[in-house]
Amino acid sequence: MQCWLLMDAAEFKEALVDAMERKRHWAWSEFTAGQVDKARLHIHFEQEYATYVRDFAILLGRAYVQCPIAAVRAELAENLYEEETGKLSLGKPHAELFLRYPEGLGMDVGRFDKITMLHEAARFRAYVDEATLECGWETAMVVTTIFLEGNQYERGVIDKNAEKRPEAPLSEHPLVKHYGLPEAALELTKAHRMVEGDHRKAAWRLVEHIQPAAYPQVLASMEEILTRWLTYRDAVARACGLARPAAS
Ligand SMILES: [Fe+2]
Repeated sequence: MQCWLLMDAAEFKEALVDAMERKRHWAWSEFTAGQVDKARLHIHFEQEYATYVRDFAILLGRAYVQCPIAAVRAELAENLYEEETGKLSLGKPHAELFLRYPEGLGMDVGRFDKITMLHEAARFRAYVDEATLECGWETAMVVTTIFLEGNQYERGVIDKNAEKRPEAPLSEHPLVKHYGLPEAALELTKAHRMVEGDHRKAAWRLVEHIQPAAYPQVLASMEEILTRWLTYRDAVARACGLARPAAS
């Protein structure tokens, strides 16, 4: 691994993209192929909600209040505004739109007011808090706008020749196809499709404002959060009744 202290801006970006290309979990193909028993699917939604979905606007706010650069704050403010109000897309907070998934699947949404986090989920959330509160604005920004909002296809955002995130028609969405979710309940998916392209590009523009002195902290935090996320997703997969295939 290259020394994080001696990196230039392009190498820093590459290290971030490399980390994001490792934000892949073996169980995701099973979730999206409908392999999880519908009776256990609430576990996935509850844990995602408690670890970051419910508080995502607050997490962005933590990056915002720490950041000394007005141009960066302006982009974070726009993202925060959309997450908290949805007024750049469908007019509802994203955390609220997320609950339309379990609601549309007939789950008891009251459960989302009293979630017990799995141990590994709590460890992941603890690091989300540490990274957004105690490691500087650069780390708070990268952890929220790149790690949490982003996915394994980040290279496709910054390189026109790289593979883009596949976007299936809503009728082919796994929750519709395998679990009978009405398409109308995919409001969060629709809101994200309306604003996501801009947010992804903005996130990578903001990375250019980070000074080399912050690179080691940001990259160390990316490795830590990735490790905790993978362990968290292992725990969710187990709780949902999935067994890790021998080869993965
Ligand atoms: Fe969102």
